[in-house]
Amino acid sequence: MAILKLRIVPDPFLRAKAKRITRIDASVQRLADDMVETMHHEGGLGLAANQVGVLRRLIVIQIPEQDEEPRVLINPEVVEATGERQVEEGCLSVPGYRGHIFRSESVRVKAQDRHGKPLKINAEGLLAQALEHEIDHLNGILYIDHLKRHEDLWKIEANEEDGVSPAPAPQPEVLTPVEVSVG
Ligand code: NI
Repeated sequence: MAILKLRIVPDPFLRAKAKRITRIDASVQRLADDMVETMHHEGGLGLAANQVGVLRRLIVIQIPEQDEEPRVLINPEVVEATGERQVEEGCLSVPGYRGHIFRSESVRVKAQDRHGKPLKINAEGLLAQALEHEIDHLNGILYIDHLKRHEDLWKIEANEEDGVSPAPAPQPEVLTPVEVSVG
């Protein structure tokens, strides 16, 4: 396994649409393993292939204290999104910033696992947030695109960045300064 180089804005890979994976071969397996290692190394909850300069539809997610194993999702798609809530979010590819945006309360995602087997996930909370964030990456979308007001984005100190606290996502009325580096 290897730690891959993380792409940072304004890298064009972050604005490109990733291609569907039609054949799950050893190179895809290796990419998944390397992305998991890179996610752990960077202290994120998730990572999309665009962020390591690969335009293929593959994401990895691991929510601390919730997912015992990392999730590897190939060709993930949001098939249903319900509700809306305000969340605090950051991205490994947009270092030094955090913002308040709106995400769905719950999502249904279909994908394939690392062996190509179809799977469905019903998610809410931080997992739903991470799924939307990472699937956005595959479409060249960053969380900063969802900002509604300029003042919803703020700078953070460098030492705050690596903290990944799986605190419950803040409710609109309780905007605690939790640190959610989604990835
Ligand atoms: Ni991200």
